[in-house]
Amino acid sequence: MRKPFVAGNWKMNKTVAEARQLVAEMAPGLGSFQGVETVLCPPFPALVAVSAMLAGTGIGLGAQNMYWEESGAYTGEVSPAMVAELCGYVILGHSERRTYFGETDRGVNRKTVAALAHHLVPIVCVGETLAENAAGETAQVVTRQVREGLQGVDGAEASRLVIAYEPVWAIGTGKAATGQGANEVVRECIRKPLAELFGGSTAQAVRVLYGGSVTPANAAEFFGQPEIDGALVGGASLKPDFVKIVQAAVK
Ligand code: 13P
Repeated sequence: MRKPFVAGNWKMNKTVAEARQLVAEMAPGLGSFQGVETVLCPPFPALVAVSAMLAGTGIGLGAQNMYWEESGAYTGEVSPAMVAELCGYVILGHSERRTYFGETDRGVNRKTVAALAHHLVPIVCVGETLAENAAGETAQVVTRQVREGLQGVDGAEASRLVIAYEPVWAIGTGKAATGQGANEVVRECIRKPLAELFGGSTAQAVRVLYGGSVTPANAAEFFGQPEIDGALVGGASLKPDFVKIVQAAVK
């Protein structure tokens, strides 16, 4: 049985003061659910403050990115050890990083390996663009992102991975995928390559999330799918109503 998993990706939103306020509003509700792994991913500057507020709540903390090198002359970057000092999780390869900051499958791969080495849970994002979807390339693109993003990952550690299927056309558009459509992509283009890379039992152990315009109104449609274990939530994680999405994931 895979434990349901819901993460809020705050993206570039909330100052430290605003982050404190939002966590104060949400933490009592979020911390009250058993049987679901809940993670908040604020921007880097808010991690220290949010980490202190989440201590003892059972709610996890994640970063939205990190670099793969251990330390050194990489101005503006944050190392795996810096993230691991505060967080248990890190989002990697989000489509916004791929689109605006030139991240490649190779880079996502190096980050994933580094995150696992630092005992972080990587939340590895994959998903096709609108143009790729329209061209019928979804299966090819998502399968490639999984294979190349995870190559060389130690099979003994692979079951700790979390994968998020986030079709780019569904992110921030209000046009979510259908539960059934997302479930099929997860089964064919994520679990199959996972099984090729790590074997069938690891492929069944990895949590796979859906992301893209998830709201309290549509969350249950995704959580009811056999291959989908939770959600990576953007816009709707910035409101106290995020608690309702997490509640919908409780089995
Ligand atoms: P939205 O929920 O705002 O569509 O964003 C999804 C996302 O990109 C989460 O990482």
